[in-house]
Amino acid sequence: MAEGMEAHGWAARDASGHLSPFNFSRRVQRDGDVTIKVLFCGLCHTDLHVIKNEWGNAMYPLVPGHEVVGVVTDVASGVTKFKAGDTVGVGYFVDSCRTCESCSKGYESYCPQLVQTSNGIDLLDGSTTQGGFSDVLIVSQGYVVRVPETLSLDGAAPLLCAGITVFSPMVQYGLNAPGKHLGVVGLGGLGHMGVKFGKAFGMTVTVISTSPDKREEALDRLGADAFLVSRDPEQMKAAASTMDGIIDTVSAEHPVEALLELLKPMGQMVIVGLPAKPLEVPAFSLVAGGKRVAGSGGGGIAECQAMLDFAGEHGITADVEVVGMDYVNTAIQRLERNDVRYRFVVDVAGSNLGVSD
Ligand SMILES: *[C@@H]1O[C@H](CO)[C@@H](O)[C@H](O)[C@H]1NC(C)=O
Ligand SMILES: [Zn+2]
Ligand SMILES: [Zn+2]
Repeated sequence: MAEGMEAHGWAARDASGHLSPFNFSRRVQRDGDVTIKVLFCGLCHTDLHVIKNEWGNAMYPLVPGHEVVGVVTDVASGVTKFKAGDTVGVGYFVDSCRTCESCSKGYESYCPQLVQTSNGIDLLDGSTTQGGFSDVLIVSQGYVVRVPETLSLDGAAPLLCAGITVFSPMVQYGLNAPGKHLGVVGLGGLGHMGVKFGKAFGMTVTVISTSPDKREEALDRLGADAFLVSRDPEQMKAAASTMDGIIDTVSAEHPVEALLELLKPMGQMVIVGLPAKPLEVPAFSLVAGGKRVAGSGGGGIAECQAMLDFAGEHGITADVEVVGMDYVNTAIQRLERNDVRYRFVVDVAGSNLGVSD
């Protein structure tokens, strides 16, 4: 097999999750492939779980990163969607089987053979995929999206995972209509995107959080209409039966019953967080009021493009703290404590990837 392009990234070598410089080889471009110079890559909670082998599937050395914004530097034959110089994005998967029901309906993220951008296995050559904390990516054009040039590119990177994760269920479940009332549970990387999309859709948005000190942030900085402290039964009771839908972004254990009370009859709650333990959903809370609970994971490529186009029209980006790669291990520690508003984004192109920390 021909030698592919040399790539320079930062990889975890073991379950400590510590990242350090790592040189490796990208595949030779196949027909339909796009070569992308990585500019910015966001740091997602999922990266933390994977690099520390918390899900038991880590393949080291492991280059994380799946919120990529970059510029096309080369295209193989057969590429029609992109040309050199285009600003593009890559999310948390880079391929799928392309034939199953999910793939044919545009719900690639639910393909049983989904190839993750990082720590995935290439369907054609069996190699391990390496993520966006590296200078170059090679991705089949069908799994690359166009990033509107009106958006700041660092703030756009988290749209590729955090953004689509909340946007997709909002559209799928009709929680994108002016005048509807949306509840957003948890104000982190996902939640703050939910507030921004909700307001852009013309909805009334209420943030529901355990921390009273996020009130000002939610109302003044992010433009939410109301704020509820989930631990305050009186506030929760006063808001009972007022919401058309709820996006629950919380990955810690938390009571669901009180949230279901906030829904109007026939209201829809969508879970996008991943608590380790099962959530307790009392049947009575669903049956009385005909309420529904769904889950949602990521989104398809066409949905992702629609999300980016919408973000471009409405000027929506994530609130980010941009850091150099030499700061990434500190960023990982701070993300574990939720000490970031609201996403770390690594300035990959502006970092010296060969320098050890
Ligand atoms: C990676 O390759 C560069 C040259 O391209 C070299 O300077 C650097 O020392 C290498 N780093 C590692 C970790 O092997
Ligand atoms: Zn992610
Ligand atoms: Zn498929």
